Amino acid sequence: MKLWAALLSLAASGALAVNSIKETVIPPREWIRNGRPPSSHVVQLRIGLRQANFDALERHLYEVSDPSHRRYGDYLSKGAVEDLVAPHPESLAAVDAWLSCHGLPESDYVRSPAKDWLTIKIPVSLAEELLDTKYHVWRHTHSGEYIVRTTSYSLPSHLHDHIDVIQPTTIFSRTIGFRSTIHNISVSLSTANADGTIRNLDSGAIIDNSCKYAITLNCLKQLYNATTYTATNQSENGIGITGYLEQYANIQDLQSFYGEQQPVALGSQFEFVSINAHTQDAYEGGQNPQNISQAGAEANLDVQFAFGLSFPIQSTFYSTAGRPPFIPPYQSGNASAPANTNEPYGEWLDHMLSHNDLPATISTSYGDNEDTGARGISLLFSSGDSGVGNGECLTNDGTQVKRFVPSFPASCPYVTAVGGTSGIPEQAVFFSGGGFSNYFPRPKWQDKSVKKYLASLPNGTYEGLYNGIPDVSAYAESYRVWYRGIPTSIGGTSASAPAFAGIVALLNDALLKASNRTLGFLNPLLYEKGLAGLNDIKSGNNPGCGTDGFNATEGWDPATGLGTPNFGKLKDLLIDC
Ligand SMILES: *[C@@H]1O[C@H](CO)[C@@H](O)[C@H](O)[C@H]1NC(C)=O
Ligand SMILES: *[C@@H]1O[C@H](CO)[C@@H](O)[C@H](O)[C@H]1NC(C)=O
Ligand SMILES: *[C@@H]1O[C@H](CO)[C@@H](O)[C@H](O)[C@H]1NC(C)=O
Ligand SMILES: *[C@@H]1O[C@H](CO)[C@@H](O)[C@H](O)[C@H]1NC(C)=O
Ligand SMILES: *[C@@H]1O[C@H](CO)[C@@H](O)[C@H](O)[C@H]1NC(C)=O
Ligand SMILES: *[C@@H]1O[C@H](CO)[C@@H](O)[C@H](O)[C@H]1NC(C)=O
Ligand SMILES: *[C@@H]1O[C@H](CO)[C@@H](O)[C@H](O)[C@H]1NC(C)=O
Ligand SMILES: *[C@@H]1O[C@H](CO)[C@@H](O)[C@H](O)[C@H]1NC(C)=O
Repeated sequence: MKLWAALLSLAASGALAVNSIKETVIPPREWIRNGRPPSSHVVQLRIGLRQANFDALERHLYEVSDPSHRRYGDYLSKGAVEDLVAPHPESLAAVDAWLSCHGLPESDYVRSPAKDWLTIKIPVSLAEELLDTKYHVWRHTHSGEYIVRTTSYSLPSHLHDHIDVIQPTTIFSRTIGFRSTIHNISVSLSTANADGTIRNLDSGAIIDNSCKYAITLNCLKQLYNATTYTATNQSENGIGITGYLEQYANIQDLQSFYGEQQPVALGSQFEFVSINAHTQDAYEGGQNPQNISQAGAEANLDVQFAFGLSFPIQSTFYSTAGRPPFIPPYQSGNASAPANTNEPYGEWLDHMLSHNDLPATISTSYGDNEDTGARGISLLFSSGDSGVGNGECLTNDGTQVKRFVPSFPASCPYVTAVGGTSGIPEQAVFFSGGGFSNYFPRPKWQDKSVKKYLASLPNGTYEGLYNGIPDVSAYAESYRVWYRGIPTSIGGTSASAPAFAGIVALLNDALLKASNRTLGFLNPLLYEKGLAGLNDIKSGNNPGCGTDGFNATEGWDPATGLGTPNFGKLKDLLIDC
């Protein structure tokens, strides 16, 4: 989160004044500045203090995630991670003194368990005083959504080394926009053809012919070589799905889905965890309404496939409140605006970092989190549904250079990004999000694979960048999901991530049965030892930004990553017996 915020913003130059600019940005073209918010408008500022031992944390993450390291699997406890991310006492003192000067005692703010984040709700007028800036209301031209942001803020010079980032200030992303789109292809499912089987020539897998028309749990198990495996309910294992805003997972739909595709799971429930739902306002989310008319297509897709595939592994659905873009009634000068809770991902992160018992695998559509990675959690994210980018893809810094737009958080090197495939045999699906991060340098485990791909590009193609996306992929079309009482067909890399997560949960089940630890951060494993347990996808491409995008090729590629999972082979690679 902190890294994200820092990197999304342009570094500011130091100035000589007592207050000097901390961050300044040129807003993306699609945001238009409107008027000023009323001074009573409430902002919830999150202040990220410098983590004193960030480098050590990163080193721990690499060591415990690298199968060739003697510390592999030796994950850190919640307390150990907190010690590593804790700010220096000097930073705490300097920030407290600064806030106190502005009439804000410690009792006014909330700290994260490691004290590296501080949250405070204040009127925008006070935020402007603190940050020596002016906020405006900005409107998103395509969606009509509003946010309250500034393009620059300042801090007393002596605080620059103690504070990494303060938001909401300069982040113009629509956090909700990171949720992958759902492609509703409205296949008439009743006509799905069930005769015979097809052979996936590359892997040799035998797959029902009907999987051409509708992807079911059975199809995924056939595609990914997991038909004969039976999982158990072990206390150390678990799988989590996150939902935001009004994305509610409907239990009646889940039961209909189980009845059709996983009858042994009928009657079973997931654990529901509500985060940040202290607001009365239902539209802010974080609740669990079971009126079927409020079922969310994405939430249903995620829980049905992730939990169905991994049953009876313990399952948890996290529903986080907080709606980043909001419609202020300011046009009429109405100042009784709701508090703008902005960063729901931050709320989710706070919750996760303050709990000891977390699911071993979590599939989500937002956020980066290396802290959680060091604790032995596998985080999977869909890589986005716009190929290499949507629209013209011109940079917003005035130079108007064409640049691909990989989606964040998939671009973060500390998570596992899952792209999409379709067809049998599988090919890259045209919308599979991929490319190279413009912000994050390439992590070392990608060196060999990514260099090989770059070397194969025709000379001068796209001036390749660094950190390659995605890491892996899974099927992304025609999932047969129960939605508001009827079967529906949904696709997108939103489907790929929970499907891959379901396979990871099954692997953890097998590892625990063999008295091993669960997998944790997956990438160092996948790029080396795990390679032989993935189905390499070698055709298809992911157009976008007015280009053909990248080709899927032998080995890693920026359309399908290393490929799709072969559960049986991965299991045999991991458990040598
Ligand atoms: C899919 O499209 C059909 C028909 O256009 C519509 O009724 C249905 O609500 C859509 N489903 C989703 C998940 O958007
Ligand atoms: C469910 O929601 C619909 C639409 O908002 C409403 O008409 C209906 O009364 C609700 N049903 C229940 C049982 O609350
Ligand atoms: C798994 O075990 C836990 C603890 O015994 C129990 O609460 C839960 O209902 C079980 N889940 C399933 C799906 O069997
Ligand atoms: C201001 O907004 C509130 C909440 O939306 C509404 O109840 C109230 O009538 C509005 N007042 C004016 C003067 O528009
Ligand atoms: C690409 O350019 C390099 C030098 O710039 C040259 O050595 C290489 O042969 C070229 N490769 C192709 C495929 O044209
Ligand atoms: C993709 O493959 C096509 C056809 O082989 C080729 O013309 C094109 O240059 C390739 N694109 C990239 C980015 O490698
Ligand atoms: C499936 O996994 C088993 C190992 O569990 C392996 O022997 C077999 O070759 C795999 N099948 C395919 C089609 O990859
Ligand atoms: C599983 O445990 C065995 C014995 O301790 C070890 O040799 C092996 O590397 C472990 N495998 C994984 C994937 O952790």
